[in-house]
Amino acid sequence: MPGVRGGVIRGRRGGLALALPLAAALVASGCGSKKPTGPVVSTAPGGDGWHRRVVFYQVFVRSFQDSDGDGIGDLAGLIDRLDYLAGLGVGALWLMPVYPSPLADSGYDVADYRGIHPDYGDLETFRLLLDEAHQRNLKVMLDLVVNHTSNQHPWFLESRQSSDNPKADWYVWADAPAGDCRESNVIFGSERWTLDEARGQYFFHEFLPAQPDLNFRDPAVLEEVRGMMGWWLEMGVDGFRADVPYQYVESWPDCWYQPETFAIHQQMRQTLDAYPGRAMVGEIQGKPEQVLAYLGNGSDAFHLVFYFDAMYALWGAGSGGDPTDLALAVQLAVDDTPPGGVVAYTLGNHDMFRTPRTVSEDVAALKIVATAQLTLPGAPFIYYGEEVGLLNGQEVVVDFRDQARTPMQWDGSGTAGFTKGTPWIAMADGVKTFNVAEEDRHRDSLLAHYRSLIALRNATPALQEGSYEAVAASPLGVLAFFRRHDAGDRLVVLHFGVEGDVIVEIPTPSGWATALTDEVTGQTSGEVRDGVWRATLPPRTGLVLAPAGP
Ligand code: NOJ
Repeated sequence: MPGVRGGVIRGRRGGLALALPLAAALVASGCGSKKPTGPVVSTAPGGDGWHRRVVFYQVFVRSFQDSDGDGIGDLAGLIDRLDYLAGLGVGALWLMPVYPSPLADSGYDVADYRGIHPDYGDLETFRLLLDEAHQRNLKVMLDLVVNHTSNQHPWFLESRQSSDNPKADWYVWADAPAGDCRESNVIFGSERWTLDEARGQYFFHEFLPAQPDLNFRDPAVLEEVRGMMGWWLEMGVDGFRADVPYQYVESWPDCWYQPETFAIHQQMRQTLDAYPGRAMVGEIQGKPEQVLAYLGNGSDAFHLVFYFDAMYALWGAGSGGDPTDLALAVQLAVDDTPPGGVVAYTLGNHDMFRTPRTVSEDVAALKIVATAQLTLPGAPFIYYGEEVGLLNGQEVVVDFRDQARTPMQWDGSGTAGFTKGTPWIAMADGVKTFNVAEEDRHRDSLLAHYRSLIALRNATPALQEGSYEAVAASPLGVLAFFRRHDAGDRLVVLHFGVEGDVIVEIPTPSGWATALTDEVTGQTSGEVRDGVWRATLPPRTGLVLAPAGP
């Protein structure tokens, strides 16, 4: 895990300084690794395993497509763009919170778990979205934000009334601040306890005072949450992305990764398993062993976990040209992921700066990290706009993370086809260049690259579910690996280096022909002689190789 210095994070080898908003803020300081324990409660299969195969796409509905000219993206707008998403080849959407909310934290402060924010539409539109998405083979996952609610949630309004009302214990109350967390989400301030005048007690909040923590030690809370999950699953929602699920139960000073928290996830998994074909991805920040522990035995906790160490390593490889950290991170996940569990690879999300800032503005760099993300053994999650290389914005409406939450750019007009009105936040720079219509006109654009890579992945079982075998002793700057599958193996060769060509020699499996085809371009690449493939690779080249056809 890279080290943090004053909100700036440095790559492991210290060569690269990357401004990193929330990751820097979410650092576990000195928290020992504690493997969650608890009974194995379920081994029910997770449907047909679609979550192991598809490419996921994260949508901030507020910034995706406005349908009614109020400058705010909405569900009807998203429905209008489903054909684009299906055409891109993604198979599942994660919608950031769309619930009613005062928006103190862009929706991560939920005021009603069974509704839709009026800015985005209503339940009827949501049902239509589900239907339209499913018709296009797109799964829909909701953000499950239950570590905390909004302070406007009726549960909190009731809880704060007195210490003996039916929901008195649904939040974490104390007569005086009951303890500090060893870890902290520093961008949300240093105070974790706020006095509530009405109740005359302090309540605990891992995030803003407007986001009081639910108290999962009261069994009624989990029961209510599981009921709510079932309500959405019954409607047809395909799963959830769980927000900070490692922070549910605190025992000061250890607020994260408590065994009681893990036991809650095993129970939530039971709720999901009651509905075939559903999946849940956990946003777990921490050391790899802490992250992978949330996959449980592979079938009793999360179906997937985000693997942020690999994201930082991808940034480092993409910008600096050295994939050593990436190779280590991937191998660690391969070795320690329980059978059935899946790690999720990201290049960015709503808490990070945009990839041209974290990786590079060089399209070749953005392409090679995308190739890596889409060929490594795990589930790729694309953050909306990443596929066209959206830049950071300038305006801040809620907090500085808005820089990576600006409207999707569909065309080169002033508001990029996002709205006919005034966008809720100023557009990012580069609208004329980094937009879908423009990039669709160029065969070598970043978007074209994403389209072909995703199509290739969707058509290639080895890339979706194949095993992983690193090629030993790759030259400096190169990560090479086989993905093996009964339907046919693939050899992925990624030259991240930025200075000069590199000669690569890789022993090929017996039976591989004298020529290999790069399936990304359809071109023959290098030559095979005496069972060894040799090629000269220019900087920032990524290849997905298969034996050339007869
Ligand atoms: C993690 C989310 O990714 C972030 O955006 C949010 O502010 C916090 N959790 C609080 O919900």
